[in-house]
Amino acid sequence: MTINLPLQAPSAAGLIWQVIRNGEAKTPAERDAVLADPGFGNHFTDHMVDICWSEKGGWHRPRVTPYGPISLDPAAAVLHYAQEIFEGMKAYRHADGSIHTFRPFENAARMQRSARRMALPELPSEIFIESLKQIIAVDADWVPSAPETSLYLRPFMFAKEAFLGVRPAKKVAYYVIASPAGAYFPGGVEPVNIWLSTDYARAGKGGTGAAKTGGNYASSLLPQAEAYEKGCQQVAFLDDAGNLEELGGMNIVLVKRDGTLVTPESPSILEGITRDSILQLATDRGHAVERRAISLDEWRSGAESGEIVGAFACGTAAVVVPIGRLLGTDFEIVHTGAEASELALSLRQELTDIQYGRVEDRHGWLTRLDA
Ligand code: PLP
Ligand code: COI
Repeated sequence: MTINLPLQAPSAAGLIWQVIRNGEAKTPAERDAVLADPGFGNHFTDHMVDICWSEKGGWHRPRVTPYGPISLDPAAAVLHYAQEIFEGMKAYRHADGSIHTFRPFENAARMQRSARRMALPELPSEIFIESLKQIIAVDADWVPSAPETSLYLRPFMFAKEAFLGVRPAKKVAYYVIASPAGAYFPGGVEPVNIWLSTDYARAGKGGTGAAKTGGNYASSLLPQAEAYEKGCQQVAFLDDAGNLEELGGMNIVLVKRDGTLVTPESPSILEGITRDSILQLATDRGHAVERRAISLDEWRSGAESGEIVGAFACGTAAVVVPIGRLLGTDFEIVHTGAEASELALSLRQELTDIQYGRVEDRHGWLTRLDA
């Protein structure tokens, strides 16, 4: 059963939002049981945001509805041609109870870049931010307060027009769902092992690697399954020149003996907001940062000579996690030294201190969602 509330006043973006409350929302006891051990991506809040777009009408009918199945025509273009994009971000509860998110204008801009590449309409940043505020307005109690937990926000957009001709869809849907989150890896911040896939690529020149689109993740699933078989938690990809790109769902940063951080620059990787923030914090501490092509050979020989002392993975879901081992078909790089892991974990600490409001937000990265 649902309860319809009166229409709200126009939002900052000029849209009139309708809020349909979930009459079958979880009870506080049921919610607390979920929040006590959320894991990652397993549980969802009581509501979702849903906005329509059409070629003729633009963005319209923004609403908050009970979380639940989406009804789609079997000919909806997304089901056939994968015209889809998404974002990933988190809402953090501060000690005073307020709720904040991290650099949301960067996510909005990245979603616009993804939209351009996937021939989807660009959602204006104000509507994107408003959509996050709307879901928090109804599901604020789902933002956990235990240390290092958050509410993962998943905005996504897809082609819903029922049409089998291959062209950009004229009808599109945008949603936001939310999922309480603890650590992404079961081991928490323990070093992870990475499988280097050489049989499969994630993206190619001129492809969709820089867009956050489902197909990139679909193509990573088989090599990711190989990674699990090899005892690794993530898969790493190279470009066709043998340069390091990124992991299935995270960016990668190498640590040199002199404290320099080196990370791949390539038009076919996702420009991570976590990576950008970590590199800014490292720059603030006086570390040199290099964004450039890195060949696998550079990592291998650097690890052998002691020039490269470690590596870490970073992304919204996993935050920052040291890499203990890179496993290839005929070689292995093992990073056992404490130096790089300690640096990775101290950057993680500084980043999360900002996100959870434990230290000053000196770069102005936080946006309050519950006010
Ligand atoms: N690379 C890929 C393939 C990802 O899925 C992610 C996660 O979103 C990242 C990198 C890191 O991006 P961000 O730090 O913005 O979450
Ligand atoms: C994120 O970190 O937000 C992602 O989208 C990556 C995925 C592994 C959950």
